[in-house]
Amino acid sequence: MGGSELIGKEEKAAVSDVLDRGVLFRYGFDAQRKGIYKVAEFERDFAKYMGIKYCQAVSSGTTALRTALAAMGVGPGDEVITTAFTFVATYEAILETRAVPIPAEIDKSLNMDPADLEKKITSRTAAIIPVHMLGVPARMDEIMQIARKHKIPVLEDSAQATGSSYKGKKTGTIGDMGIYSFDYVKTITTGEGGMVATDSEELYRRAEYFHDHGHIHNPAIPRGDEDRAFPGMNFRMDEMAGAMGAEQLKKLDYVLRRQRENKAQMKEGIAPLGFEFRDLPDPAGDGGDCLIFFLPSAAKVIEFGKSLGQKGIGTKILPSGMNWHFFDNFPDMMERRTLHREKCPFTCPYQAKEFMYKKGDLPKSKELLERAIALGISVNMDDAAIKKVIDAVKSAAKEVL
Ligand SMILES: Cc1ncc(COP(=O)(O)O)c(C=O)c1O
Repeated sequence: MGGSELIGKEEKAAVSDVLDRGVLFRYGFDAQRKGIYKVAEFERDFAKYMGIKYCQAVSSGTTALRTALAAMGVGPGDEVITTAFTFVATYEAILETRAVPIPAEIDKSLNMDPADLEKKITSRTAAIIPVHMLGVPARMDEIMQIARKHKIPVLEDSAQATGSSYKGKKTGTIGDMGIYSFDYVKTITTGEGGMVATDSEELYRRAEYFHDHGHIHNPAIPRGDEDRAFPGMNFRMDEMAGAMGAEQLKKLDYVLRRQRENKAQMKEGIAPLGFEFRDLPDPAGDGGDCLIFFLPSAAKVIEFGKSLGQKGIGTKILPSGMNWHFFDNFPDMMERRTLHREKCPFTCPYQAKEFMYKKGDLPKSKELLERAIALGISVNMDDAAIKKVIDAVKSAAKEVL
């Protein structure tokens, strides 16, 4: 699971301290808070850890995506290319900007296939969102090369890969902007929370203002007197989440080390079965979130998953969470379901002619995802827990294959 396994006295003390001071809001109240600004501290430390200039904490990974897209100026009539395999949030954030999401196929890394990305670029493509799924970095060299060639900005969705890296650079810091999620099941957690990262001061300021109703923050004047840049939203992180984040960040390297060790041990244990494993574009940068291998057919995967379940071993997303992570299974989007009044403006994505993707339009992704099994890795797994998984996989293989 990650950081949630390690919540302990450090987080408790930090959150209690915030409660003792009684200031839960990240801005202002300077006299009461006695110099303690937990969200700002988390942002500063996170930026340092990631090796990036600016970080803006927000209320979730979803609002981080929405904020970053706003900062990049994405809006009605634009197309945004992302990948077929991601959590619905990536698509929802694009739809929220009134832009049109365009799914690109994945390759054996289960992340964006650069060749398909290039095919999907049109004159209306306003942004590209590669997603580093389940801790594994996407093929960022190829993606950045294509994006630069076509002069399209890149927003990395690193919600599931906090601390992972690609060729020495942390995921989320390679494109023009990056986002992270700190929900309860992510690599580190603030309960709910997210972060927007960028090296561009201009993009950062736009994200900063957007996430707080357009406030042009100026510590020299009262908040109520500040100017407004443009209409924004309230996507602020509160001080308790900031306190959690600052403590969890200190544990991130330990989380990654333990996950990587446990994954290596599990992989070694099942390697003799001869399965084909997921491609890793940079094995050293894998966060170790889970171990994925392919079986010969979708039918075998279902049987295999059942057999593992009977032995008390669950799978992570593949195959058990496909309804929420594969574009083919998002009927709400394909059928253009909406809460808007029926006659929405023609720029509304639900009415846009360009939004023509339907079930079956992503055959390569479907074929790969349906043949994949993902075994979750946790920080606190001991040798016995790892052996239990290996034994279950061996016995499922005997039964099913
Ligand atoms: C790839 C991806 N993007 C975005 C999100 C959204 O993050 P949050 O749950 O913090 O809103 C998630 C969460 O699962 C995710 O997996």
